[in-house]
Amino acid sequence: MHILGIESSCDETAAAVVTGGKEIRSSVVASQVDVHKRFGGVVPELASRKHLEAIVPVVEEALAQSGIPEEQLSAVAVTQGPGLVGALLVGFSFAKAYAYARGLPLIGIDHLQGHIASLYLSGNGPAFPFTALLVSGGHTAIYHVVSHLESRLMGKTRDDAAGEAFDKVSKLLGLGYPGGSIIGKLALDGDPSRIDFPRAYLDKSAFDFSFSGIKSAVRRYVQEHPEDYRADLAHIAAGFQEAVVDVLTFKLIRAAATKKCRHAAVVGGVAANERLRERVRSAAAKEDIGVHIPPLRLCGDNAAMIAAAGYHQFMAGKRTGLEADVYSRSPA
Ligand code: KG4
Ligand code: ZN
Repeated sequence: MHILGIESSCDETAAAVVTGGKEIRSSVVASQVDVHKRFGGVVPELASRKHLEAIVPVVEEALAQSGIPEEQLSAVAVTQGPGLVGALLVGFSFAKAYAYARGLPLIGIDHLQGHIASLYLSGNGPAFPFTALLVSGGHTAIYHVVSHLESRLMGKTRDDAAGEAFDKVSKLLGLGYPGGSIIGKLALDGDPSRIDFPRAYLDKSAFDFSFSGIKSAVRRYVQEHPEDYRADLAHIAAGFQEAVVDVLTFKLIRAAATKKCRHAAVVGGVAANERLRERVRSAAAKEDIGVHIPPLRLCGDNAAMIAAAGYHQFMAGKRTGLEADVYSRSPA
């Protein structure tokens, strides 16, 4: 069963064809990083315009690369939310029109569920139930995942998302956008224990996060060391990253233990962070918990994960009507 997946929730226009929820036949991602770079973040209006330009060629490319004739597609899966409304509308409207014209079922996918489905695109993925840490530019949350169709929220950030904290710290250090990969690389040359930034565990037995305090702590450090902070950039990056990774790792492993899960996963853009991957793996090994983290190309936004989620929803009978609309935030 071949599913065409489409994603346009933020600054990537993506399309993919996935077979059986697992096998990636094609996955095309057109990044808008170069457009948003000089503004230090995603400009929603520009994002929508760039999606409009890219959507047709990206879908055509994904179909061509897949080698699957369009008549053999079984459904179109598309990100319905959460995300930037103007950006989402481009992919969602295109998918509606394409599905209608080809007589295919349409399946609206929650972007966060898509990140979780990315685990099944490489190997078999974790057995249910497992705990998943979702860390991206827009979200940071822990889920108890009980099936392909159901993820129960255990806790989430009360302010910034982890990726957002990386992006904002990079910006205030004058390092550019997108911040996650820049900080990750710079941190390799720094000593994580040189500067001790605060860890916001909040309630250690709960699974909520807060990252605005550490961002302010980095800002304060810069203000207090106006002359010499530039020489310490690698130590600042390493110290900041370590503080974020400490909290993420602690909460994920604790969540798995609380739910007596033998498996834990990390998904989303920040799952590309090498230090986080390493720390989660070693903490989980001590507790005898299996760890699942997608390969780097599937951590950031892509449409293969949307097609994979679409497969499971399709098998469960989910269909989305043409009257459906996008949503900017997940229903609480
Ligand atoms: O999942 P994603 O591509 O988009 C959203 O759904 O938000 O995540 C993007 C986020 C950005 O904040 C980016 O800075 C962060 O993922 N990111 C990283 C790394 N690579 C990307 N954060 C930390 N370390 C990285 N290596
Ligand atoms: Zn995402």
